[in-house]
Amino acid sequence: MAAGHGTRMRSELPKVLHPVCGRPMLEWVVRAARDAGASRVVCITRPSEGVSERVPDGAEVAEQVEGEGTGSAVLAARAAIDPDATVVVLSGDVPLVRGELVAGLIAAHEGAGALATLLTTEELDPAGYGRVVRGVDGEVERIVETKHTDGVSAEELAIREINVGVYAFAGAALASALDAVSITAGERYLTGVFPELRARGGAIAAHLTSDTSSAMGVNTRIDLMAVEALARRRLIEGHALGGVSFPVPESVHLDADVEIGPDTVIGPGVTLTGATRVGSGCRIGPHTTADGARIGDRAVVPHSFLTDCVVGEDASVGPFAYLRPGAQLEAGSKAGTFVEVKNSTIAAGAKVPHLSYVGDADVGEGANLGAGTITANHDGREKHRTVIGRGARTGVHTALVAPVHVGDGAYTGAGSAITGDVPDGALGIARPEQRNVEGYAERVRERSRG
Ligand code: UD1
Ligand code: MG
Repeated sequence: MAAGHGTRMRSELPKVLHPVCGRPMLEWVVRAARDAGASRVVCITRPSEGVSERVPDGAEVAEQVEGEGTGSAVLAARAAIDPDATVVVLSGDVPLVRGELVAGLIAAHEGAGALATLLTTEELDPAGYGRVVRGVDGEVERIVETKHTDGVSAEELAIREINVGVYAFAGAALASALDAVSITAGERYLTGVFPELRARGGAIAAHLTSDTSSAMGVNTRIDLMAVEALARRRLIEGHALGGVSFPVPESVHLDADVEIGPDTVIGPGVTLTGATRVGSGCRIGPHTTADGARIGDRAVVPHSFLTDCVVGEDASVGPFAYLRPGAQLEAGSKAGTFVEVKNSTIAAGAKVPHLSYVGDADVGEGANLGAGTITANHDGREKHRTVIGRGARTGVHTALVAPVHVGDGAYTGAGSAITGDVPDGALGIARPEQRNVEGYAERVRERSRG
């Protein structure tokens, strides 16, 4: 498999590491190779581009230290070419090729007894792709590159059949033909092997596909957008077949590794990324973003933002909640409207319904935090924990100055700044006494009359 080259993406990141639905292109391709039954996967990389370090586990690396072009890339893996085996070459920038299609290509190749079989399609806009030139007998003769169209004839430019960049070769023939391929514009083209193999009397077969997403190559970020849109659609359809509803699928953004259980509804404007796992029977969104979140069965999460957190079964989040790393909501608990939770446990059945910040805290089972309860977890230098007991009730606008402990079943008075522990079952109240100024309104009126 050829990887490397970042120029036309105009990026610091090598092309094959650009993500498609959160997964680097290279990883999509390695998975396709494995799905097709590859016993050995070799990724060809350029030294010091940073791709070798990102090759998926179990895949080998061959570094292309000399020569330019896809042919030179394949030659860099010469030591891995088994002369007696079928060798499949995939392109690192054709990420959505399906494993079953590659398996079909191999079967066609071996069935036809060809020296080489290439995957082709007539369904894509052929601009920029290599065109398949067939002889009068219909046999594949050669590939005309059209990245630059100077010197390409009008007849050749009218050809719709393109080379996808996915091939099966007889191992021995591939290695020896590549050595004979001449250099064009400083590059050794892999596609140069076809005329060479024909000259040796070998047959070249084409395996035509109408699966356009499998065939799309990424040379620019416009290509990347098109491929990502197809990948996303494929993922959403996969989840839909698994029992997930998407009332407005075109508005949903999903990464490839996200898991979703059946009977969950993913509403409009939802983004689920990273290792997010959603249980069954949930209602997520509209407009919820979750990255690295684990959401239990039947949870309800409208209009919220979640990162690296855990939401238990039957929990309720939002609208407009922000769950940050280490937030752990246990079964049936609630983090409601304008509530931010970080590095804290909200135990089963506990509720934080409105306008709160809960940071570095343990909220006990069945506790209820009044609107505007805030943990003052940071003393200017260090963070401290707040512990709220089971069934405790804080009054609205309670400031909990950590480290502090509110006991089981305890209360705090509305507007209290709680700086000391409140024993189990007690009421902690810490606010100035109220003073009423009698007749105040009348005095104001008199003053304004002058
Ligand atoms: C290539 C094919 C073209 C085909 C198209 C399909 C050749 C000469 N042309 O063109 O017929 O229609 O793919 O998408 O093969 N790479 C290396 N080392 C190199 C050069 C390239 O590893 O020295 C890698 C690239 O990173 C990429 C792949 O090989 O993953 C294909 O190279 P690219 O330059 O994108 O070739 P295309 O112009 O797309
Ligand atoms: Mg390409």
